[in-house]
Amino acid sequence: MTTKLKRTHMGGTLRSQQIEEKVTLMGWVQKRRDLGGLIFVDLRDRSGIVQIVFDQTVSEEAFKKAEQLGSEYVIAVEGKVLLRQSVNPNLPTGEIEIFAEELVILNTSETPPIYIKDDDDVSENLRLKYRYLDLRKSSMQKNLLIRHETAKIVRNFLSDEGFIEVETPVLTKPTPEGARDYLVPSRVNPGKFYALPQSPQLFKQLLMVSGMDRYFQIVKCFRDEDLRADRQPEFTQIDCEMSFVDVEDVIEINERLMKRVFKEVLNVELQLPLQQITYEEAMERYGLDKPDVRFGFELINVSDIVKECGFKVFASAVENGGSVRGINIKGYGEQFSRKDITSLEDYAKNYGAKGLAWIKVTEEGVTSPIAKFFNEEEMALLLETTKAEKGDLVLFVADKNSVVYDSLGHLRGEVAKRLGLLNKEEYKAIWVTEFPLFEHDEEENRYVAKHHPFTSPVVEDIPLLETEPERVRARAYDLVINGYEVGGGSIRIHSSELQEKMFKALGFSKEEAWEQFGFLLNAFKYGTPPHGGIAFGLDRLIMLLTKEDNIREVIAFPKTQNASCPLTNAPAVAEEKALKELSIQLDLEK
Ligand code: AMO
Ligand code: AMP
Repeated sequence: MTTKLKRTHMGGTLRSQQIEEKVTLMGWVQKRRDLGGLIFVDLRDRSGIVQIVFDQTVSEEAFKKAEQLGSEYVIAVEGKVLLRQSVNPNLPTGEIEIFAEELVILNTSETPPIYIKDDDDVSENLRLKYRYLDLRKSSMQKNLLIRHETAKIVRNFLSDEGFIEVETPVLTKPTPEGARDYLVPSRVNPGKFYALPQSPQLFKQLLMVSGMDRYFQIVKCFRDEDLRADRQPEFTQIDCEMSFVDVEDVIEINERLMKRVFKEVLNVELQLPLQQITYEEAMERYGLDKPDVRFGFELINVSDIVKECGFKVFASAVENGGSVRGINIKGYGEQFSRKDITSLEDYAKNYGAKGLAWIKVTEEGVTSPIAKFFNEEEMALLLETTKAEKGDLVLFVADKNSVVYDSLGHLRGEVAKRLGLLNKEEYKAIWVTEFPLFEHDEEENRYVAKHHPFTSPVVEDIPLLETEPERVRARAYDLVINGYEVGGGSIRIHSSELQEKMFKALGFSKEEAWEQFGFLLNAFKYGTPPHGGIAFGLDRLIMLLTKEDNIREVIAFPKTQNASCPLTNAPAVAEEKALKELSIQLDLEK
């Protein structure tokens, strides 16, 4: 059905200022209530909900039609804005209602399979299958609006700072960001594949070679990796690159960008300059390279005190080159029963810890399953070093350092979560700098780039490249907010010799490096400016701004845990003919 009526207002924006005005609204029927000679309809559009009244004595015809209205019918209503008799303080439009004079039913609707209601606890699969209905919910519309606002602020800010947005190819060659590639077969080049970009990394560097000076792009990236609550196979980056800059320049401009976003979207003030800590300090104090600094419980190294103690587990961890560290859950000791501590121990075991030793200081003194292993002096030192006082609980892990860091680092967050200390209204942003350039891949027994192979080493560490690669620091930085890695970047290598050295350290032969990245190494021969940049995960940033725990809540059409889409049923089987054209034969035995 069509109508000559023209919409004059968004219903959710009407207030008492519009009293007596004649308005025409269009939208969906959220709810209909019949009260004898009156029918009340909650009309919903993107701006919100407003109450429409159909009164038999105002328009018999409109009233008759209103009797047919069902949930999610699409209607046009013309009527007068009047003050409401009983104000609804829970609704922004709660002071007014529209007395309908004309009603046009633009479309009917079958009973929707999910309620259009914010806190409806229907399964996520169903929500995703009917995503177009799910997106009618005001909470989802709000998230997409914040996403739009954020992208707009970012575009404006970066444009004003002299960045220009340049699109880069989606059908390209592998970019080594550490995940698996999505491959696309080429029909015209049988047996050959494009890779979807894990990031525009190489192209943005080439744009610096081109003299673009400052580039940005809000861009889709593709990574075939195991999904988590904050990971999607296709996600969006705010990607930037700048010429003639050092670490501090990239940090300075990007923290101003974040300040602008938080101010304009949430009216939250980030104090600049943001705190910066080195990777080493982050590990030492928080056990993780993406620390949540909204709360304390920092790691304390007690290896020196326990290295000769009677508790074999502790002493031998130190003897074998590991450590013993603890976190003091200051003031919350009383809140953890033995059973709670056992459950924390189980949690720590997920991260490789073999146990979780503890000391509780109560009115009666020290209780601890390991107290018997320590003499008086050692115990006093332990308490002093961990600043343990009455009311405290100290949790210890003894192991090789990587396990101690990882288990206590995650335990810190888990304890804070159980204590309800994670306040989503509070935003603590921190830069983590000087990451190690390499990481040892235990499985393949070789070094891999911690960030990516184009990251520049700290200049004074260059001589260590060939002798002690594990000690080389990178000119790399991550922005971490409330324990999420929101962005990461680095100053790049801009000389072909250093780049070749880097590939060598990573175990590429010269031929392999040229085969894979020859185009970049070639470009570096023709006057490459020093350059560096960063990429923010837009989806993660929006998660924080909308206070969502799951990345799928901020993406219009996301993928599920097994990288599929319940709405379109992608991925799907390809037609025989298409496979043939691509010279592809399937081998599904495995
Ligand atoms: P990096 O790999 O650190 O750096 O990615 C940058 C940011 O992108 C986000 N991110 C993701 N978000 C959702 N789902 C994913 N699967 C996912 N993977 C990453 C994170 C991360 O901080 N080219 C470099 C940047 C550079 O060096 O300039 C890069 O891609 O928030
Ligand atoms: P046990 O003597 O094995 O019962 O251990 C005594 C306490 O030490 C228990 O609370 C264990 O959880 C804890 N524990 C065992 N192994 C470790 C470890 N590697 N690090 C920290 N605590 C441990």
